[in-house]
Amino acid sequence: NSQSNQFCEAGIGYGEVGCGLSSSTKLLIKGGTVVNAHHQEVADVYVEDGIIVAVKPDLKVTDDVKVIDATGKFVMPGGIDPHTHLAMEFMGTETIDDFFSGQAAALAGGTTMHIDFVIPVNGSLIAGLESYEEKAKKSCMDYGFHMAITKFDDSVSRDMEIMVKEKGINSFKFFLAYKGSLMVNDELLLEGLKRCKSLGALAMVHAENGDAVFEGQKRMIQLGITGPEGHALSRPPLLEGEATARAIRLAGFVNTPLYVVHVMSIDAMEEIAKARKSGQRVVGEPVVSGLVLDDSGLWDSDFATASKFVMSPPIRAAGHNKVLQGALSNGVLQLVGTDHCVFNSTQKAFGIDDFRKIPNGVNGIEERMHLVWDTMVESGQISINDFVRVTSTECARVFNIYPRKGAIIAGSDADIIILNPNSSFEINARSHHSRTDTNVYEGRRGKGKVEVTIAGGRVVWENNELKVVPGSGKYIEMPPFNYLFSGIDKADASYLSSLNAPVKRSKSTT
Ligand code: URP
Ligand code: ZN
Ligand code: ZN
Ligand code: ZN
Repeated sequence: NSQSNQFCEAGIGYGEVGCGLSSSTKLLIKGGTVVNAHHQEVADVYVEDGIIVAVKPDLKVTDDVKVIDATGKFVMPGGIDPHTHLAMEFMGTETIDDFFSGQAAALAGGTTMHIDFVIPVNGSLIAGLESYEEKAKKSCMDYGFHMAITKFDDSVSRDMEIMVKEKGINSFKFFLAYKGSLMVNDELLLEGLKRCKSLGALAMVHAENGDAVFEGQKRMIQLGITGPEGHALSRPPLLEGEATARAIRLAGFVNTPLYVVHVMSIDAMEEIAKARKSGQRVVGEPVVSGLVLDDSGLWDSDFATASKFVMSPPIRAAGHNKVLQGALSNGVLQLVGTDHCVFNSTQKAFGIDDFRKIPNGVNGIEERMHLVWDTMVESGQISINDFVRVTSTECARVFNIYPRKGAIIAGSDADIIILNPNSSFEINARSHHSRTDTNVYEGRRGKGKVEVTIAGGRVVWENNELKVVPGSGKYIEMPPFNYLFSGIDKADASYLSSLNAPVKRSKSTT
């Protein structure tokens, strides 16, 4: 079958079609150090039909079981990326990684599940979901959905209930930026927060002040600053801090948990730290670009180079990244996403004369695991257990699918990676698996390499070769009322009882 062989040479093979793969559904991973978020031990992992059956030292198996030697390596839960945009229509174009190419790239980098954002169609959640269900049919790994809320009325409110109770969606995202397209105002945000609370769904925010960003953009254009650096200058950390603080306070007022996506600045992180210190339930998600890059690329004189770094909130000046790393290591921020949202250089060139037209977004779905390992574990900032926590387990907990996902224990889905700490990785656009023609991490090398990825019990990445099957990925339904909701009702009750002492006022007698 020449077509499938061609695909193999391109680095993406179809399992069981052209690559002469075994169709074995029984696997034994032998002799590795099995790492979970709270424990690690040298043990074998036995997998059957996509499920982890046993985790114990010295397991004996029959001849029909494929054995993978993991001696000297780490056997860990596959990564879960909480924040991606595959095949998203945005800024007049569509991201060029779809649910097949983006997921194939993810698998090559050790990520075995992602949660993507459904964008409503003309405000309709049902139409939006149908569109994303269609896009996701070619999936080669498991995925879940968040849903964006872009308007609010009785029908949206009703549909939110359908999403939570019938469709397996347990989180809704509110964009406080992108004025004129996705942005919502405070009134809508408040309605949305109340509805999320009543449904046990997690409210998420893109926190930048969209009105002020609009003003900042006009200011840059008036100053004649039209290049990619104008993007960052028009939306400084101040505006991210403001929106983060506002969203946190409104979530506090409603008393519902809040998840802040892509925390890019010290300003936003400090608002999260302050709220968490006071006991408020706020989850902070840094993304890989914010943790490891700085804004220097935006000032490159070559437009193609500078424009690839344009994302929102912007990648900040050097210094923010190090502080965000510290916040991740001490728990102020809890899990790492990517915001993988890629446009090729032709699409980025839509904004050659005006930074406001550069489609926003950077890559990361393939690079996240390696860069977090190298930046955080190799530097000694987090433990290997913490690596598992921030790349997989905490995401599974927050989106209420733990321990089916995010753990190597008997009964969990067999989404597993084998990482060799003595090997190394190198990133470049020539060898990456994303469809985009640039990479914001071009030329980066580091220690640690994901040598094997197992998704749903199948070896999909081994010997630097992908063996992926479109349609093999499953939709993972995520139930409401995650752990952040426990005790919320008690706090509400004590608030209400504090109001119960009626204020005595003398009646006017005139
Ligand atoms: O620049 C970005 N982040 N693009 C994707 C949309 C979003 O704001 O998450
Ligand atoms: Zn092959
Ligand atoms: Zn965003
Ligand atoms: Zn995003």
